[in-house]
Amino acid sequence: MGREFNDLFNEWSHSYDQTVTGHDPEYEEVFIDYEKILTTVAKKSKGTVLEFGVGTGNLTAILNEKGLNVFGIEPSEGMRSIAKQKLKNITILDGDFIDFPKIDVPIDTIVSTYAFHHLTDEEKEIAIKKYSNLLHEGGRIIFADTVFPTEEAKQEKIQESLDRNFHRLAEDLQREYYTTIPVLQHIFDQYGFTVNFTKLNPFVWLIEAQKERR
Ligand SMILES: C[S@@+](CC[C@H](N)C(=O)[O-])C[C@H]1O[C@@H](n2cnc3c(N)ncnc32)[C@H](O)[C@@H]1O
Repeated sequence: MGREFNDLFNEWSHSYDQTVTGHDPEYEEVFIDYEKILTTVAKKSKGTVLEFGVGTGNLTAILNEKGLNVFGIEPSEGMRSIAKQKLKNITILDGDFIDFPKIDVPIDTIVSTYAFHHLTDEEKEIAIKKYSNLLHEGGRIIFADTVFPTEEAKQEKIQESLDRNFHRLAEDLQREYYTTIPVLQHIFDQYGFTVNFTKLNPFVWLIEAQKERR
């Protein structure tokens, strides 16, 4: 599920680390404060951490440096092989947000950066339901990703991208499944999480959810 972007990421894997430095003007705003965003997610992580969509392993490396026990999940073979080259001592497995190998230790924190939008809203709900069963009370989900306060705000960003001749960005915003804060709030409420949203750059929000007693 949600693996329809694999070809795109296999292709992008070789130049991905250059894109995140903000050298591509179309994606400059998306990746403003990229390192700071990853560090923020890592700072809020504790214990054994399950990371989805590790890409080239940039967040994984920061979590590892912090001394956390990290398990990475990544569906693109190209991305996985770059991450494995960088992080030889870390387990990085083939899988996605919904279908992934069983981890035989209790998970304290589930993290992901720049990836949750690859799931449709229905798939996001399936994933959060699954994490609700995986996490103990007090366990946390810490995601950073592009989300919009409202559907109107999303449409404005798409129009703004077209006006600036950022056609690849506009297409990306239309093709992938960027959602809104009210949709995510509703999903987290349903599965027993309290959730907070904090804006980190013109596109990316920090999504912090904690599993409460049911
Ligand atoms: C934009 S990259 C982000 C990589 C990294 N997390 C970062 O912050 O730089 C998105 C990653 O999500 C992965 N991805 C795409 N669909 C996915 C899915 N359904 N489940 C998990 N990861 C997925 C892609 O293969 C890619 O590595």
